[in-house]
Amino acid sequence: MSEEQLPQVVMPQCQVERVLVGQKALVTGANSGIGKAVAIALGHSGADVVVNYVSGADQAQEVVDAIQQCGSHALGCQADVSREDQVVAMFAKMKAEFGTIDILINNAGLQQDAPFDEMTLAEWNRVIDVNLTGQFLCAREAVREFKRRGVVPDVSCAAGKIICMSSVHEVIPWAGHVNYAASKGGVMLMMKSIAQEVAPYRIRVNSIAPGAIRTPINTDAWQTPEAYDALMTLVPYKRIGEPEDIGRAAVWLASDQADYVNGISLFVDGGMTLYPGFATGG
Ligand code: BGC
Repeated sequence: MSEEQLPQVVMPQCQVERVLVGQKALVTGANSGIGKAVAIALGHSGADVVVNYVSGADQAQEVVDAIQQCGSHALGCQADVSREDQVVAMFAKMKAEFGTIDILINNAGLQQDAPFDEMTLAEWNRVIDVNLTGQFLCAREAVREFKRRGVVPDVSCAAGKIICMSSVHEVIPWAGHVNYAASKGGVMLMMKSIAQEVAPYRIRVNSIAPGAIRTPINTDAWQTPEAYDALMTLVPYKRIGEPEDIGRAAVWLASDQADYVNGISLFVDGGMTLYPGFATGG
């Protein structure tokens, strides 16, 4: 089939199932991009949501409003996930307002790209601090609360669920983005090691590994037709991912529908990890 004969892009139209009613969720970095879409999807599915942000209070308030419009409770909370004191304070605030936590979406992340030999220690450290250490700090607080509270059968089969937002770059090397790829590779084994350790407490820990999703982090990769066409050479499914694609995956993974899923990276990438170059080469 030639490129011209490819079928048109049709986006999924899905019914919202309220599979998370009664659950309390925290989404880090929820004021934009993937975090925003996941927070709204959780809210639509019945969860009450803490909308974390580090800057962009107005955007965070819009997310809070969107969640409240679908009948769930929502609360904005400013905290830098790379700062232990701020993470501890955020969890204390959540506990005071919502009573507990059932779902942590470890989403906050950033890129600070540079050719390897020009990368500063500050760029290296900032990306590792937010993308990896931030996920550690939030996961640790969540596991402490999950263990303290245990399973509440009317709420969920599990004592708690953690979803780490990883990336296809937990397995695909990425020149010019060494700090970012290293942070996501770290997230993969951190997630699996935590999952192995806390599974007996009925705590599920998984990752979502998105491919190219249309968000502010990668505007350069999709904003012009030329950039979009170049990106599509890396995506066998021939469309960019939308933040809602990740929102739907997160709802399923956090719900009891995925109760026996533990320690996996769920790639939501239109086939980016299928080595598309080998479709015609090799
Ligand atoms: C990065 C994006 C990139 C995508 C696919 C993501 O993890 O944040 O900038 O477009 O991976 O390469």
